[in-house]
Amino acid sequence: MSLQLLLNSNAGKVLTWFKMMSEIYEDPKILDEYLLFHYGRENEILDPKVQWPDGMKQALDFAVRTPSHFSTNTMTRGLDLGCAVGRSAFEMARTCEKVIGLDFSHRFIAAANYLKNKSEVNYSRLDEGAMTVQLKAELPEGIDSSRVEFMQGDAMYLPENLGRFHRVHAANLLCRLKDPIMLLKRLGDLVEKGGELVLATPCTWLEDFTPRDNWPKADTLGWLKNYLLDDFELRSVSDEPFLIRETARKFQWTRSMITVWTRR
Ligand SMILES: C[S@@+](CC[C@H](N)C(=O)[O-])C[C@H]1O[C@@H](n2cnc3c(N)ncnc32)[C@H](O)[C@@H]1O
Repeated sequence: MSLQLLLNSNAGKVLTWFKMMSEIYEDPKILDEYLLFHYGRENEILDPKVQWPDGMKQALDFAVRTPSHFSTNTMTRGLDLGCAVGRSAFEMARTCEKVIGLDFSHRFIAAANYLKNKSEVNYSRLDEGAMTVQLKAELPEGIDSSRVEFMQGDAMYLPENLGRFHRVHAANLLCRLKDPIMLLKRLGDLVEKGGELVLATPCTWLEDFTPRDNWPKADTLGWLKNYLLDDFELRSVSDEPFLIRETARKFQWTRSMITVWTRR
């Protein structure tokens, strides 16, 4: 192969790889992983025949635990930014009369809408190689799905007429945005006075998603305070672990930093 051809084919590969990174959440394999992550039962995620470390069990149900950082009072409007396949938005509907779940991925939003309308959706769990198991994600019990609306959109360019919310939730979104500061600057307008904001971030800053210039210059907590303290009071800082199963033997175990804020 000539050098020119080699360079062209490498450039093509680099371009394809970039495209893959930006479109990762449109990948059917990632959709399956997220349906399992959000709706999978313990025995579907962790083989019951294996003695798993307690830490892995404690990392289940992340999409249920993050909205549990809101107060338990009933509120009117909630917003889940980067809602993926919708579990946290559905959970927010237990105490919010109306919830909007917004995500950039068309495929994730289609799955969330399917679940809302049909109360279940079939998906595949990858065990190894080409071995898969068919599973069903079900709408969690006790949730009025008519309270939830899903929409495809960009958290950096939210519609001007979206209005204000009593609760805003954004889990593991900030370090997937090209320009997370655009969202941080919008949050003061999105949350009603006295309203609550829950941000979860594993602080996994990667140039694949966020150019280095847009990363926090020091620690992520200080960076959040810098952009939010004018409009919000910081109520608590804690950690929540999460577990994403890739195969029967390969998992991502990560700790997300949870900050809870009240709009001044
Ligand atoms: C790491 S996942 C977290 C999903 C979910 N909140 C959770 O905790 O499981 C990041 C999500 O943000 C979405 N996302 C990425 N960029 C976005 C953007 N600009 N606007 C809205 N959502 C975005 C992705 O499609 C994906 O669903």
